Amino acid sequence: MSNQTAAGTIPGVKERAAQIVENADRLPSLPTVVLKLMDVVNSSGSSADDASKLIDKDPALTSKMIRLANSAFYGIPRSISSVSSAVVILGFNTIRSLVLSASVAKMFDGKHSIDMDRYWKHSIVTAMISKIIVRHLMSVRMVDPESAFCAGILHDIGKLVFSQHMPDDYAAVCDYAKKEGIPLIEAEDELLGINHEKMGSILAEKWTLPPDLGCVLAHHHDPKQAAEEASYLVNIVHLSDVIAHNLGCGLFDDEVCTQEAVQCRLELKIGNSDYDKIVQNVENSIDKSNEFLSVIVKS
Ligand SMILES: [Fe+2]
Ligand SMILES: [Fe+2]
Repeated sequence: MSNQTAAGTIPGVKERAAQIVENADRLPSLPTVVLKLMDVVNSSGSSADDASKLIDKDPALTSKMIRLANSAFYGIPRSISSVSSAVVILGFNTIRSLVLSASVAKMFDGKHSIDMDRYWKHSIVTAMISKIIVRHLMSVRMVDPESAFCAGILHDIGKLVFSQHMPDDYAAVCDYAKKEGIPLIEAEDELLGINHEKMGSILAEKWTLPPDLGCVLAHHHDPKQAAEEASYLVNIVHLSDVIAHNLGCGLFDDEVCTQEAVQCRLELKIGNSDYDKIVQNVENSIDKSNEFLSVIVKS
């Protein structure tokens, strides 16, 4: 990139990154519908009606929900024509994943220097893999598969802040990572003085996300740093991130990924045969992510 004068330096870039952190209160807030839906999902007295009434107020969101509910991603054999039947058939937690994905994609739909299709494909595939791993390990420990999906969708969200608020600088950071063959997070640390984990954790705090989800945003490249309560989820998302990269679903071609996968598999007690089954399942399902992507990002 032209404004990169020498390896590891872009004039004034660290100041510009620090400015974004300083003005974090100006970063976008989670839409009310997402916050209210999180309350509905977490409240034992809620009904499907409470959730569908919230979504029905937003016609654009309603049409996305119905398209997603009917997509191959969920493979529901009958046609779903209303939000209320989507909530009943897919369940609260899946609806929360859909609303969160659609709302966050809309919040960051401005101009970006990164390839947004590739960004969302990576996030959706990571989310899908996280859900597959949780389902596979269900007998070992109970984690809600949809919470894992949400964690996968959001894990790299800090990159979108850089790409939207300092597009040229972030393009230079990506170019530097490519040229040096290093993980993007290392290039961010070196050039920006801050990385997308830190930026993600700032957003998690602003959005008052649940602590385990915040921990994924903050530590998905180094699961050892995760708090004990969140360690299982952080290991799952890291492993999913690595598998997504290995399947060619990175932010750009040949993106180098931090590799703690061996340690993650030990932590999660995933032996070779389980791992092969997970990867096989992912390979069989990966095409289904395209329809999810087209509804979330292109409509
Ligand atoms: Fe990341
Ligand atoms: Fe990632």
